[in-house]
Amino acid sequence: MHSFDKDADHVAVDKVLSYARERLLMDPIPLDGARTEDYLRSAAGQTITAAGLGSTRAMELFEHTLAPACLSTDHPRYLSFIPCAPTREAAAFDVVVGASSIYGGSWMEGAGAVYAENQALRWISDLAGLPESAGGVFVPGGTVGNLSALVVARHTARAKAKEAGTGARPYRIAATDNAHSSVVSMAAVMDAEVCGVHVDDKLRLTGSELRKTLEENGPETFFAVVATSGTTNFGVVDDLASVAEVCREYGLWLHVDGAYGGAGLAAPSVRHLFDGIEHADSFIVDPHKWLFAPFDCCALLYREPELARIAHTQEAGYLDVITKSAEWNPTDYSIGLTRRARGLPLWYSLAVHGTDAYVEAIESTLEVTRFAADEIGRRDYLEAVREPDLSVVVFRRLGWGPEDYQAWTDRLLAEEFAFVVPTTFRGETLTRFAIVNPHTTKEDVNAILDTMA
Ligand SMILES: Cc1ncc(COP(=O)(O)O)c(C=O)c1O
Repeated sequence: MHSFDKDADHVAVDKVLSYARERLLMDPIPLDGARTEDYLRSAAGQTITAAGLGSTRAMELFEHTLAPACLSTDHPRYLSFIPCAPTREAAAFDVVVGASSIYGGSWMEGAGAVYAENQALRWISDLAGLPESAGGVFVPGGTVGNLSALVVARHTARAKAKEAGTGARPYRIAATDNAHSSVVSMAAVMDAEVCGVHVDDKLRLTGSELRKTLEENGPETFFAVVATSGTTNFGVVDDLASVAEVCREYGLWLHVDGAYGGAGLAAPSVRHLFDGIEHADSFIVDPHKWLFAPFDCCALLYREPELARIAHTQEAGYLDVITKSAEWNPTDYSIGLTRRARGLPLWYSLAVHGTDAYVEAIESTLEVTRFAADEIGRRDYLEAVREPDLSVVVFRRLGWGPEDYQAWTDRLLAEEFAFVVPTTFRGETLTRFAIVNPHTTKEDVNAILDTMA
């Protein structure tokens, strides 16, 4: 398998690269969709065999059977969850990252990659208005980003309590019900508790409600507040300025989860919604969501990276050569040791296109979202639940129940026309567009809304 056979190796590599090339340049992209396990068993059969299938057969299987059984999350009418719409450059560069066997965990092994990733992180950090000393690391996703940041928050709070000799052992996180599901899940991983804060009439976390929760439960029991800058269901940005003020008053760590919405920082038309984010102790944004990078990529930033280094650095004799160096080792700033240089596709695309192109692309998705909200308002069979703040619009089809929404979703998917799943809010089934793909047009929006008439 590892012997060098120039001709055979060329054929094997070309087969994979030519498929990648074709997929990267495909226009239009098919929506595709899941198939049943029975179907896949009969169509693909046993793919792992003692003798191997050979590259021709394996690639054929992928191209004609397995790939079409996966939804194209970059399809312009894939509007569910949070789509992924990488630029061609970012997606193509992911192939380079895989081909180059770069180790992205340490400066010693991956200095060039770490330098480039840090420049991409700097752009995001500057958008948020964090200080020059801020820094961080690209991790696989928002869930890992939230966990890594909260581990640092708790470590820091407990160290402070120990130093002050208060005897406190903070174990609580304050967040609203609208915080992402990963916050509750990751709190369970940490054996921490999430304490719910009421939202205001705009569905936001605010400083005044936060203060009530802290006072009712004992501020000394908390180690972090999680605010969201773009909730997943509605795209609501919490009132970061008032939340930051209360965090400062109580000496609490402010983590801002911008996994989905953080990209809005680059868009002048919505930048004001993020005022106060410059006070965050930690902040995440997923470039695989609204910053046009491929899966899987989360930018995790700390106001004081040294606190993260203290909390996360793994100690072992075989790592001393790295950990005792003064260089920037990304692995020290999150959970996990080995790391893919997963920020490089974003870096490459930013380097190629420049940041202005990102501003323009993000604004274009906001414009299509506002168009969708207007169209929903114009049609007598539809009703928006709330005006969109960012690029998510949630709405109801008057007269429909849960089964109607599901049947509609199933029909659009079976026809490979669009992928729009229902959501629920306060017990009601609704539907939702998440528009982060600059290829999603106003015509796409109208075509989908027409099918609900
Ligand atoms: C606000 C928010 N936080 C966290 C996450 C989790 O991110 P990931 O799926 O990359 O782990 C998401 C995912 O949609 C999200 O929208």
